[in-house]
Amino acid sequence: MISGHGVRDRAGNRARIRVNVRTTIDPGRNVLAVGVIGCGYGAENLHLPAMRSLPSVRVVAIADSDPERLRLVGDRFAIDRRYHDYEALLRDAEIDAVAVCVPPGAHAAITLAVLDAHKHVLVEKPLCLDLDGADRLVERARRASVTAMVGFNLRYHRHVRAARQAIAQGRLGPVELVRTVWSSQVRQQAGLPEWRRRRDLGGGVLNEMAVHHLDLWRFLLGSEVDEIFASSRTETSDDQTATLTGRLRNGALALSGFSQRAAEAHEIEIYGRQGRLLASPYRFDGFELGPAATFPGDLTSRARGLLRTVRALPGMISSVRQGGSFLQSYRDEWQHFTGCVLRGIPPDSTFDDGRRALELVLAAIDSARSGHPVDVSRLRRPDEPAESSA
Ligand SMILES: NC(=O)c1ccc[n+]([C@@H]2O[C@H](COP(=O)([O-])OP(=O)(O)OC[C@H]3O[C@@H](n4cnc5c(N)ncnc54)[C@H](O)[C@@H]3O)[C@@H](O)[C@H]2O)c1
Repeated sequence: MISGHGVRDRAGNRARIRVNVRTTIDPGRNVLAVGVIGCGYGAENLHLPAMRSLPSVRVVAIADSDPERLRLVGDRFAIDRRYHDYEALLRDAEIDAVAVCVPPGAHAAITLAVLDAHKHVLVEKPLCLDLDGADRLVERARRASVTAMVGFNLRYHRHVRAARQAIAQGRLGPVELVRTVWSSQVRQQAGLPEWRRRRDLGGGVLNEMAVHHLDLWRFLLGSEVDEIFASSRTETSDDQTATLTGRLRNGALALSGFSQRAAEAHEIEIYGRQGRLLASPYRFDGFELGPAATFPGDLTSRARGLLRTVRALPGMISSVRQGGSFLQSYRDEWQHFTGCVLRGIPPDSTFDDGRRALELVLAAIDSARSGHPVDVSRLRRPDEPAESSA
């Protein structure tokens, strides 16, 4: 097993190059045998449909402590090997990789057990709920020499990829402002698990939704976040709605709003000195790039928008068939993960990224409690590089 950390690439950039070579994956293999731990909402509606659509993934076993969920999900996806105890799944020698889809409070213990069993792992966000747990996971993943990825599915969304590329190519010029909104009606749903109502168990918009967009601030702009200010509204459950502002090291300012009790919306806007872009993860034609000098809504912009929609129509049909643009991000996430495992290369969303996003969520929680901006540097590990590795 080879593991080289912090290597520089040919252009001299600091790259998170980690060569993961795992002897149990034969070089000729092109299908990964996956086990899923936790068969709740996310596994049933997002991960398993995405995995089922990929020829490079075969789900061979599932585990859940709730026998009813195990039966329901096992029957729906025709998975015969079912374990009440996740440790029994980890002893299953056929399994190469594990998806950890349990509530956030159980991420750390179960993911550590997966790493100890020398299986590749994709753990849902947030990586875990505290920095000590995150540090243990980062260290253990480094030593285990397996592919260890955090499920920041939005990083794999095609509009987000296009946005990142446009920013990296300098098409917006230096970015001044980021504005994002993610809103859903999930709090109105009956039968929501208790953990989703409680901040200390990983529920609420800061833990569940803001963690994604805080990760995107870093991922899209390639810069770390130095300061966070947050306001949160708690009525029937913790953090049902929240706003965040942030100051990034490259000078850009960011503001984001999240709600689990408002109309459905998902928008990411980036404003640079030479252009602006909109990435809208729920819309099949939701990527717009415009020069700084044009006004949104003028005749040229409207004509371009119409043309874009017409051009995107054929793609819409296959997108709808696959569950829409958002579900496709899980498919792309799994494709990325399997590619990384089979080729022994590091994923785009590492446990280090998971720790960084957790620092930002904890800073936001602290700010929402105190009413003051929080300097994120005091939550960083002393050995964490100052420059962004996103
Ligand atoms: N990427 C996204 O946008 C996204 C979307 C949904 C959920 N998630 C994440 O996925 C995770 C799960 O969320 P969910 O909505 O599916 O939760 P859920 O409560 O619906 O399901 C969790 C399942 O885990 C099982 N479980 C709990 N402890 C267990 C244990 N020790 N061993 C085995 N099974 C156990 C429960 O019985 C339940 O069936 C969370 O971390 C959540 O944040 C992410």
